[in-house]
Amino acid sequence: MIGDWLDIGPVGQIEAGTARTLPVEGAQELAIFHTLRGEFFAIVNACPHKKGPLSQGIVHGDVVTCPLHNWNISLRDGRALGDDEGCVPTIPLRVDAGRIYLLRAAVLGGGAEAAPAEAEA
Ligand code: FES
Repeated sequence: MIGDWLDIGPVGQIEAGTARTLPVEGAQELAIFHTLRGEFFAIVNACPHKKGPLSQGIVHGDVVTCPLHNWNISLRDGRALGDDEGCVPTIPLRVDAGRIYLLRAAVLGGGAEAAPAEAEA
């Protein structure tokens, strides 16, 4: 159902290997990533460590490295990789006819799954 999906614009607005932010009224800001492999992901723009702006991190494969303390976060499921523990909510995203859509309920609900806002380091 198209009404369940929020059109956030054309795929061309995000250069491969970068991300852009998407403010959401009444919810946490999102980060929309375009990987060098050509995939798109949406996650809450707050690192599970200390809320670093993941949109400003380095994207490699389907992982982003947080710009603050270099945690690696999976764009696929929002989990911290390696020895670090924590998870940032992900937003279901699909690309259709050159446009990016986010699952409306997840955008307004702050993510697809309940995750602790902050993880102990
Ligand atoms: S805030 Fe992201 S690694 Fe510390």
